[in-house]
Amino acid sequence: TDNMCGIFAYLNYLVPAKRKEILEKLVNGLKRLEYRGYDSAGLAFEGSEMDVNDNVIRMIKCKGRVSMLEDEINSLKDINYEKEYTVHCGIAHTRWATHGEPSPVNSHPQRSDPNNEFMVVHNGIITNYKDIKALLEKKGHTFESETDTEVIAKMVKHIYDKHSGTKISFRECVELTIQQLEGAFAICMMSRHFPGECVATRRGSPLLVGVKSQAKLSTDHIPVLYSKGQSHYDVTGRDSLKDGDLEDHRGFINTTQRLDSTTEFHPVGEESEVEYFFASDASAIIEHTNQVIYLEDDDVAAVKNGCLSIHRIKRTLDESTIREVITLKLELQEIMKGNYGTFMEKEIFEQPESVINTMRGRVNFETNQVVLGGIKDYMNEIRRCRRLLFIACGTSYHSAVATRQLLEELTELPVMVELASDFLDRQTPIFRDDVCFFISQSGETADTLMALRYCKQRGALIVGITNTVGSTISRDSHCGVHINAGPEIGV
Ligand code: UD1
Ligand code: GLU
Ligand code: MG
Repeated sequence: TDNMCGIFAYLNYLVPAKRKEILEKLVNGLKRLEYRGYDSAGLAFEGSEMDVNDNVIRMIKCKGRVSMLEDEINSLKDINYEKEYTVHCGIAHTRWATHGEPSPVNSHPQRSDPNNEFMVVHNGIITNYKDIKALLEKKGHTFESETDTEVIAKMVKHIYDKHSGTKISFRECVELTIQQLEGAFAICMMSRHFPGECVATRRGSPLLVGVKSQAKLSTDHIPVLYSKGQSHYDVTGRDSLKDGDLEDHRGFINTTQRLDSTTEFHPVGEESEVEYFFASDASAIIEHTNQVIYLEDDDVAAVKNGCLSIHRIKRTLDESTIREVITLKLELQEIMKGNYGTFMEKEIFEQPESVINTMRGRVNFETNQVVLGGIKDYMNEIRRCRRLLFIACGTSYHSAVATRQLLEELTELPVMVELASDFLDRQTPIFRDDVCFFISQSGETADTLMALRYCKQRGALIVGITNTVGSTISRDSHCGVHINAGPEIGV
C-alpha cells in the first residue's frame, strides 16, 4: 500500500563522502518524508566510535521528530565527522507504529543482535511475525523490541549463521527470509558482514531505487535475474513455516547455480563511480537524481561492488523480465500528491488500501471470525454493560452514526452516538456499567479527550478507537483498537 511510513537509504560507491555529508543526506532524506506523518525516526551507518575498527555499524534512534534525531546526531561526542568513505551504506527510517508503542527501542533500524550484524528498516506489517518470533526464540534469539519488524533482521542472521562456511550472499539471505514473511513490507537492509552493500525488497508497500552517476548510464533498463532450482524454494513456501524450514534451505544453496556476476547495471565510463538512493517515496530522491527504478512485489534489489542487480525467485508467465529506468520529471509537491489535486483527495482514493490494512491480521476468512486483539479481554465486561456510547467529533462522529444500526443489531444493546462537545455541555449522566467508545484519528482531539476524562471519572469502561499508537486517547483508555490505516495528512 502507499500509506506506511518512510524509508531512505544512501549508498556511495567510489564517490568519496565524509561521514558528516552522509549523515546529512540521510537526515535530509527523512525530512522529505516527514509530510507523511510518523512518530519516531532512526538511522544506521558504517563505522565505529573513533573509527578504530571500521567493520561495525552504529545506530541512532529516537521517539519524536527528525529534528530531534538530528540534534542527537550532532551531540555525539565519540564520532569523527570528517572521516571520509569511498564506499559506504547507510539506512534511515521514519516509523508509524503498528506493533509496539513509539519508543527508541521500537524505532527502526531493528537489528539482528547487539553487535548490529544485520540492520533493517521496514514499512508495513508482518502479519505472521508471532510464529517466526516463537521459532527464532526457540533457536536462542532474544528479542528486544515489540515490533513485528525485528523478526526480519533476526531471521536474516539466522540464515546467514546456518550457512557459515558457504558463500551465501547477503541478497540470498534476504531472499530466503522474505519467503517466510506474510503481510506487507518495503525493506532496506545493511550488514557488517557485507560492508558497502545494500539489499532492498518489497511486497505490497512501495520502494524505488534512484541511480546517480556523472557518466551516462549504460542501459535504460535492468534485466531481472531468476534463481534456478526454484523447486527448493517451492518446498518451503511461505505458507509452510515449520520448525525445520530454516535449516532445509541448506540444500538450496548447494544445488543452485548462482547468477551473481552475469548481469549487472552500472554506468558507462572509465570509472564506475555511482550513488544509489533507496526510498519509499520519490520525493526523497528527486533532489539527488531523476533516474529511478520502481521495484515490483517480491523483487530483491542488491547493490554489491557498486552494481545494482534485481532478482526474483520465480518467473511467472507474461511478467516483465526487465525493470525500466524511469526519468522523473515531476516537481516535488506533485510527486508527493501523485496525480491528485490535494492530499485529501489522495487519501480518499487510498481508502480501499487503508481498509485492507485495518483488517490485516484481524479477519479470518476461513472461520468468518473477526478478532480485535485490543478488546478481546474486555468482551465479557462489554457484553454485560447497560449501554454503549460512541463519543467523537467530525468525521469520527459520522463513522459512529453510520455503524450504529449494525452495532445495535449485533449486540442487542442500546447504542448512543454523541458529539463530544454537546455531550459535555449537557453533562450527560454516565454510570459505572456504561461502556464509552472514543473515536479519533489522531487520538488527540481535544473535545473527545475531555469527554473521555469525564466518563473515566464516573467509572465507565473507556474504549479508544484511534489510528495513532501512543496517542493520548490510546494511552488513557482502558482498552481499544488501533485502526492501522496509515498516517493522515489531509486533515
Ligand atoms: C496488538 C499489537 C500488535 C500485535 C497484535 C497481535 C500494538 C500497538 N499492537 O495489536 O503489535 O501485532 O497485538 O496480538 O502493540 N488500546 C487502547 N486504546 C486505544 C487503542 C488501543 O488502550 O485507543 C490498547 C489495546 O487495548 C491493546 C493495545 O492498545 O492493549 C494494542 O491495541 P491494537 O493495536 O488495536 O491491538 P492488536 O490489533 O491486537
Ligand atoms: N510494523 C512496523 C512497526 O510497527 C513498521 C511500521 C511502519 O511502517 O513505519 O514497527
Ligand atoms: Mg480528521
